[in-house]
Amino acid sequence: MTEQPVEGHERRVLGTELLWAFGVGVLIAAALGMIVFTALTRDINPPSNVELIDPKTLHLSGEFAEQNLGTTVGADGGVTVRVIATQFMFVPRCIAVPRGRRVTLRFAAPDVVHGLLITGTNVNTMVVPGFVAQVYTEFTQAADLLMPCHEYCGLGHSDMWATVQVMSESEFKPDRDGRVSCAQR
Ligand code: CUA
Repeated sequence: MTEQPVEGHERRVLGTELLWAFGVGVLIAAALGMIVFTALTRDINPPSNVELIDPKTLHLSGEFAEQNLGTTVGADGGVTVRVIATQFMFVPRCIAVPRGRRVTLRFAAPDVVHGLLITGTNVNTMVVPGFVAQVYTEFTQAADLLMPCHEYCGLGHSDMWATVQVMSESEFKPDRDGRVSCAQR
């Protein structure tokens, strides 16, 4: 067996390494490109709201007290939904939202980390105790959508889900206090 010249051997190693580096570079560029592409065209962005809230008292007073949960239409016509994610349910269990209008969704958790998505929409966020998770969306179809918890939060995790009732503009009627609840269907 003849020894290969050291120089030729090194060159071959270098060639292999560069080939792998090129392949990995293409994969990274594709992944980053997909993130930018979905952000620009599909409105899929990581939630970036940083807002602190005390998880020990959030249900007792302030924004996430029981009487403030659910859907509220403000004086300016803005629609805000407030929901508590807790072991093992969302409060309220049904959320009424209008079709074709921008909706602000705000979530808080008093116990452990939960997560949620709303099927068929770009809503997908974690709910971390101590922070308010806030996302915006516009619902396009009048339908009942499923909102499951998608972060393992304990034994009852698989039973933790809510319904999002997307209403037509004629159905979405706030009461005197600007509140809207799900309709019996
Ligand atoms: Cu809450 Cu899983």
